[in-house]
Amino acid sequence: MADNPSVEAGLSAFTVTLIIRRFDPETMDEPVWKDYDVELYPTDRVLDALHKIKWEQDGSLTFRRSCAHGICGSDAMRINGRNRLACKTLIKDLDITQPIYVEAIKGLPLEKDLVVDMEPFFASYREIQPFLIADAKPKDGKERIQSVAQREIFDDTTKCILCAACTSSCPVFWTDGQYFGPAAIVNAHRFIFDSRDEAAKVRLDILNDKEGVWRCRTTFNCTEACPRGIQVTQAIAEVKNAILAGKPAIPAGV
Ligand code: SF4
Ligand code: FES
Repeated sequence: MADNPSVEAGLSAFTVTLIIRRFDPETMDEPVWKDYDVELYPTDRVLDALHKIKWEQDGSLTFRRSCAHGICGSDAMRINGRNRLACKTLIKDLDITQPIYVEAIKGLPLEKDLVVDMEPFFASYREIQPFLIADAKPKDGKERIQSVAQREIFDDTTKCILCAACTSSCPVFWTDGQYFGPAAIVNAHRFIFDSRDEAAKVRLDILNDKEGVWRCRTTFNCTEACPRGIQVTQAIAEVKNAILAGKPAIPAGV
């Protein structure tokens, strides 16, 4: 393991216990917690631990992952009760004197082990029309010019990777599966505040729905859960203000 930074740094491996909530719809009625002892280095991530279990102990362990580097958003899960990306959670940042609990994110139908059905999440995302709507021709016939200051207004919400860590940490979403959820609102914000987009009113009307922004109780779970550091609650507040004002609030001079 010459490319392991822990080995190169002279660090030793230690045994960590992971307790994983397993569920197989073909053989089980209810999920069960199962523990696994794994040899890990401090710089390993929870995703590495899951790979080791899958490859060396139980090939039936099921989870999603793709990029393994915090970009694709496919491996959000609850680790020690908190939504995180397994590929961005270092073992050294967890208390390894205690077992590490890993389970699927909440509020979405459990399919198998750490995999949930993401369709309700993406249905809300699609509903807010997450694409630029600009029918008018650009003034010069070529480009829709945007200043740095105009781009800055919605920069934060462009960072979303649709991991669902925010939406599935929201207690309102747990109890009301119809609520659009923070991620859909974040992605609506990204276009509502884009100076080139012409459909802010349409999206504000959609989010003014009884299952829209007004369900948010400002618990800040979403902001704490976001692995991209997006100020989710603030984005939701800005969308609420835009609904009340009938248009997005653009800072003076922009
Ligand atoms: S806002 Fe953050 S937590 Fe929510 S889906 Fe986007 S990246 Fe994930
Ligand atoms: S595997 Fe892509 S974000 Fe973790």
